[in-house]
Amino acid sequence: MSDTGGTHKRVAILVSGGGSNMVTLVKSMTGDHPARPCLVLSNVPDAGGLTKARDLGIPTAVVDHRDFKDDRAGFEAALNAALERARPDIICLAGFMRILTETFTSKWSGRCLNIHPSLLPKYKGLHTHQRAIDAGDAEGGCSVHEVTAELDGGPIVGQARVPILPGDTADTLAARVLVQEHLLYPAVLRRFASDDRSLLRLS
Ligand code: GRF
Repeated sequence: MSDTGGTHKRVAILVSGGGSNMVTLVKSMTGDHPARPCLVLSNVPDAGGLTKARDLGIPTAVVDHRDFKDDRAGFEAALNAALERARPDIICLAGFMRILTETFTSKWSGRCLNIHPSLLPKYKGLHTHQRAIDAGDAEGGCSVHEVTAELDGGPIVGQARVPILPGDTADTLAARVLVQEHLLYPAVLRRFASDDRSLLRLS
C-alpha cells in the first residue's frame, strides 16, 4: 500500500502504542488521496502499531528513547535522521507518547500534526477523559492540531465532539472518543495534504 512515487505527499506516522489511528490514516491514503504513507516509526520496539504497519506493507523504523536515557537532543537527532531518510512532507503523531522539544518542532513546523483526545484548549497533557468527567463537562471529544513547541498547543485544524453520558468512566468515554478520532484524523489529513488548514468540525 506504500506508493510514494512522485505526485503524492509523503506521510510519516509516529506511534508508541497500538496504532489504531495510524491504521485508519494508512487505509485512508488510497485512490485520489493526495498523500501516501512512507514510514511508520515508533519509540517503542514492541509497539503493536509496528506489527500492524508491517502487515499493511508500510516501511517501519524504531528509535528507542531508552537508548538515550536523559539525552533528549540525542533522541531527537536520531528521530530526525530516521525521518529524513524517509523524506516525509507531513508527519502525523498518532499516539506518540514523547514530548518533543523546540529543536524538533521548529524543524518540522507547518508539516506536523497531532491528535489529542480532548476538546483543546481544554485538558492538554494526560488523563483527559477523567479530567473532563471530573469537571462535570457535558461533552468530550478530540482535536487535531499543528505541532508547536507548546505541548498540545498548536493551531487546531479539526475537532469532533461526543456527549459525556451519566455513568461514563474514562474507559467508556475514551472508546466513544476513539471512534471520532478514526473519522477526524483521516479527514483532516486529506485536507492538510491539499494545503487546506481551515478548521474542520465533524460533530
Ligand atoms: C489516542 O486516543 C490518541 O488520541 C492518544 O493516544 C491514543 C492512541 O491510540 N494520544 P492508538 O495508538 O491510535 O490506538
